[in-house]
Amino acid sequence: MDYQAILNDIADEIRPFLKEGKVADYIPALAEVDPEQFGMALTLFDGTQFSVGDAETLFSIQSISKVFTFTLALNFYGTDMYKRIGREPSGNPFNSLVQLEYEHGIPRNPFINAGAINVTDALLSHYGDDGNTLHEVLTFIRSIADEPSIDYNETVAASEMDHGFRNLALANLMKSFNNLDNDVQEVVETYFKHCAVEMDTKMLSRAMLYLANHGVDPITGTVHITPQQAKRINAVMLTCGHYDASGDFAFHVGLPGKSGVGGGIVAVIPKLMGLAVWSPGLNAQGNSLVGTKALELFTTKTGLSVF
Ligand code: DON
Repeated sequence: MDYQAILNDIADEIRPFLKEGKVADYIPALAEVDPEQFGMALTLFDGTQFSVGDAETLFSIQSISKVFTFTLALNFYGTDMYKRIGREPSGNPFNSLVQLEYEHGIPRNPFINAGAINVTDALLSHYGDDGNTLHEVLTFIRSIADEPSIDYNETVAASEMDHGFRNLALANLMKSFNNLDNDVQEVVETYFKHCAVEMDTKMLSRAMLYLANHGVDPITGTVHITPQQAKRINAVMLTCGHYDASGDFAFHVGLPGKSGVGGGIVAVIPKLMGLAVWSPGLNAQGNSLVGTKALELFTTKTGLSVF
């Protein structure tokens, strides 16, 4: 298959839509990003990469980091994780408080904010403190992306902390139900820092390979998680990776995927490749508008989807 030609066609076809999305402005540091950017990349199991557009521009991965922290937590806690978080789609916005109250502080899944904050809490309990936890998360991301320079942006993390009232509310609510072990402030700060990690689409598509290959990095042979855990993470990405637009993403794209309000989306084509796309303009549910369209075009043109 001529992946380069397909990516080039997609870049042409999405151009008219670049003005339609709206950058996330509830995090002031993200509001400054030029929305009319687009990059897309894929990495095959032998490391071959194809890309188009701004594929090497770093951006804030935001909620995509939830895939990485959930992977680490499953590694240590296994199925015990499901005592503190669920694995059902929420059908609600990613930062909603309502459901968490009537479901007694147990977040629906690890990919909405409450769930990811809870996962960060589990990592803090395992690794000790903020510095250690962040170090381990970064070490893992650098390893799966095969890129030692990856780091988080302190300005973005601080900007979110200044406006993180909802996330603090979610963490406090979980604490009130005894479903958060560490200090609320520390958990939320650590969560904001891993959301503020910066990567480009080439790195992100490379980082998805372990999920396309039963938990094993096909290039280095490193075992990151068990095949069963890889299956579970992919399943939760498919059903919960795009919040209240998860059904729509499955309908249009047909791949396990995870979005972030920085405009990035990662997706997995089992046994074949990792995919990543970035365009900062978002749709109403907080997912990249052009990114979603580009992935839909990709699965339509290639016939590659899990269905
Ligand atoms: O907690 C937040 O709101 C952000 N750090 C992450 C949210 C996010 O990426 C949701 N994405 N669509």
